[in-house]
Amino acid sequence: MSDCKHIYISKIGGHEGEDICLKGWLYGKRSSGKLHFLQVRDGTGIIQAVVFKGDVSEEVFATAGKISQESSIEVYGTVKEDKRSHIGYEIAVKDLKLVSEASEYPITHKEHGVAFLLENRHLWLRSPKQLAILKIRHQIIKSVRDYFNNNDFLLVDAPIFTPAACEGTTNLFETEYFDEKAYLTQSGQLYMEAAAMAFGKVYCFGPVFRAEKSKTRRHLTEFWMVEPEMAYYDLKMDMDLAEDFIEYIVQSVVKHNRKDLELLERDISKLENIKKPFPRITYDEAIEILKQKGKEIEWGEDFGGDEETAISENFDRPVMIHRYPTKCKAFYMKQDPENQDLALCVDVIAPEGYGEVIGGGQREDDCDALLEKIKEHNLPQEAFEWYLDLRKYGSVPHAGFGLGIERTVAWLCGLHHVRETIPFPRMMERIRP
Ligand code: 4AD
Ligand code: MG
Repeated sequence: MSDCKHIYISKIGGHEGEDICLKGWLYGKRSSGKLHFLQVRDGTGIIQAVVFKGDVSEEVFATAGKISQESSIEVYGTVKEDKRSHIGYEIAVKDLKLVSEASEYPITHKEHGVAFLLENRHLWLRSPKQLAILKIRHQIIKSVRDYFNNNDFLLVDAPIFTPAACEGTTNLFETEYFDEKAYLTQSGQLYMEAAAMAFGKVYCFGPVFRAEKSKTRRHLTEFWMVEPEMAYYDLKMDMDLAEDFIEYIVQSVVKHNRKDLELLERDISKLENIKKPFPRITYDEAIEILKQKGKEIEWGEDFGGDEETAISENFDRPVMIHRYPTKCKAFYMKQDPENQDLALCVDVIAPEGYGEVIGGGQREDDCDALLEKIKEHNLPQEAFEWYLDLRKYGSVPHAGFGLGIERTVAWLCGLHHVRETIPFPRMMERIRP
């Protein structure tokens, strides 16, 4: 047993007929007479290990009969083909080592409430559904990075401690910074604008923070955002990029995570359909859709979750809503030269009611107009002097956007709530475990 060949369950296929060793945990067990059927998981998959009384010592057979759920075990045996099993193989056990016996495990194979599961998130992560979600999250992040790295973008990391707000002052997390105040970043965008003026096409990817006081199914207080920013790009080019980027991510998940999507019972045909071009409508057209559906909304208001869901019902792929009223958007947005009341911005709303996944647009590149906006929004000018500098030294049209990873995971996995899309969610009422 000590010199056995350790194989991960996901790689078991290449070892038929060989004697190997699994290192993992007991996921489940059932027994009948001279047989114990152990479900062993190791993080890469689950496989059945069959302990037949005639094949092992009396002691091993007795141990197999009483191992508790989630005990850590090493299993030694022969890889056998088994057409009935979901992975096509099982293990005929020859020996077994109990590494550490688990106490009574709180998460059984019965249904549990979400509050209980979130309290036990550190253990809940072990379940197959959570593994499938996190594997899809992994693939999304990988394709995000691949996309920008393969398209000549430079990765530029943005700071987490910031001296000022980017996305409005209402949801800032304030913290002490020696004898000053600082804020946890809401977005790396302003720093990416500086980087775009230095390097052309850049992106940052990291955690951002919003003190969201609303408990909705789409809001976390800590989430991950990827933010590309491009010099010499206008709104149209920005939308073209967002569309191409989303298609790439969705299709790479469809390609690499079919089994995970199936386990989550996701309707994959809906994702296969996510191909360019995406519908593009103006804010005014979106208002028309909402009015036709009997929603009460005034021109000038931003859309919330309910409005986004109602609009998305009209489309079978993401819808790009552009040119919102300036007054409901952030200070840095460029005004539409054809209508000063509108901002050159875009929100991309996912289909099936998963909400806004991208927010972005063209930035104000005129120094005086930007200063005006900073004053209008009551922002402290001194904290933005460096940002104004970017308009003084070789200003150019530029644009970018931010994609929220968790909303994208929720959409692709078909999850109603974002709380399961991140390993350890942070929400208004939750900072533990
Ligand atoms: O629309 P937002 O606020 O845009 C920005 O922060 C821009 N500065 C980005 C840029 O242009 N570089 O946020 C962008 C995206 C949203 O579309 C959404 O997907 C996600 O971030 N997001 C959240 N995700 C989870 N929880 C929250 N509280 C979120 N707030 C925004
Ligand atoms: Mg937004």
